[in-house]
Amino acid sequence: MVKKMERREFLKTAMTVSAAIAFSPALAACGDGAAYESTSTEIRESMAVDAPNDHENYLDFVRQATLAANSHNTQPWLFKIAGDTIEIHLDHSRRLPVVDPDDRGLWISLGCALENMVIAANHAGYFSTVELPASAEGIITVRFETGAEKGSHPLAQAISLRQNMRNLYTGELVRTSDYAALTSIPLEPGVVLLPVVEPGRIKEIAGLISEGTLTQYSDPAFIDELVYWLRFNKKEAMNTRDGLFSACSGNPTAPRLIGKMFLNPKSAAKTAAAEVEKVMSASGMMVLASENDDVTHWINTGRVYERLALTMTNLGIRSAFHNQPIEVPELRPQLQEKIGAKTTLPQLLFRFGVADPMPVSVRRPVEEVII
Ligand SMILES: Cc1cc2nc3c(=O)[nH]c(=O)nc-3n(C[C@H](O)[C@H](O)[C@H](O)COP(=O)(O)O)c2cc1C
Repeated sequence: MVKKMERREFLKTAMTVSAAIAFSPALAACGDGAAYESTSTEIRESMAVDAPNDHENYLDFVRQATLAANSHNTQPWLFKIAGDTIEIHLDHSRRLPVVDPDDRGLWISLGCALENMVIAANHAGYFSTVELPASAEGIITVRFETGAEKGSHPLAQAISLRQNMRNLYTGELVRTSDYAALTSIPLEPGVVLLPVVEPGRIKEIAGLISEGTLTQYSDPAFIDELVYWLRFNKKEAMNTRDGLFSACSGNPTAPRLIGKMFLNPKSAAKTAAAEVEKVMSASGMMVLASENDDVTHWINTGRVYERLALTMTNLGIRSAFHNQPIEVPELRPQLQEKIGAKTTLPQLLFRFGVADPMPVSVRRPVEEVII
């Protein structure tokens, strides 16, 4: 009992310290606040459609590719500019062996980056020919050819504005015409889009998300991997320019030692409840599913997701992933059944709706991802 009280007091003190840090601008910035803002704005500069030569254009395509959605903001990519092509390589040093043992999410992330690259190139006046790898040892190759109409791609300006928005949504429904626009976007071979908008079905899926969160948070290896990629304050986020910055998830910033204390199996129930609340605040959910679990289908899923996310960005619709029922193997067939995906496998699960803006995430400089 005494032990319990001591622990409670300790947690109370820790929370007070963390709240004080979060609400004290001088401390919260940890010396790098201004740098964080200017860097995240700089990397999101709008596209250079009139670069002086192909090489400058290609460098800008790489920058635009790195703004894509990607697992844990690991930015698991490397790019090689060779003649009139850009190769996209998977960076194996950025794997997530616990949450993503098959590199499924990593290849999806590369698909997201590829989609940004093709859109950026088209906007700058280039046609792209994409060659996908035959196996996980391969690379993606994009060959460029001039002749496309410059400045005409409708999704190009959304690349720098798209975000994964993890806050509570307002509960408002998106306009019917916008919903129709989303559900009719062009797909890639082997990928299907399955929307879920009935509140009863969303609640059922929220139940799976809760179960998935409880399972993941009870696994110390999952927590360790997550903590490794969490950036608890702007200084940490600026040191690595990758990972999950607390503020982008609506959490207070804090020194690592304090931030870490709130991530453990004991925080599972609270995290699961928060996930359910967020899901229920959305206008609806969507699943992207594919005919197979292989590199081609993962890349194609990423391409469709990014296209959809950019379309949502243009329409002022926010979205956020809740992939727990796909990441926890026992739950995937249950999700499959709930969404009526008889012959396709769920790859991405996300909510969409209306919400206030959130802080944006950062990326590493282009020089660091070019080989
Ligand atoms: C394959 C994949 C899986 C993801 N899974 C989750 C998830 O389960 N929960 C979550 O909050 N974000 C998830 N994300 C979003 C990333 O964390 C996010 O894209 C990254 O932190 C960069 O932030 P941004 O999208 O706002 O630029 C996922 C992204 C991808 C591409």
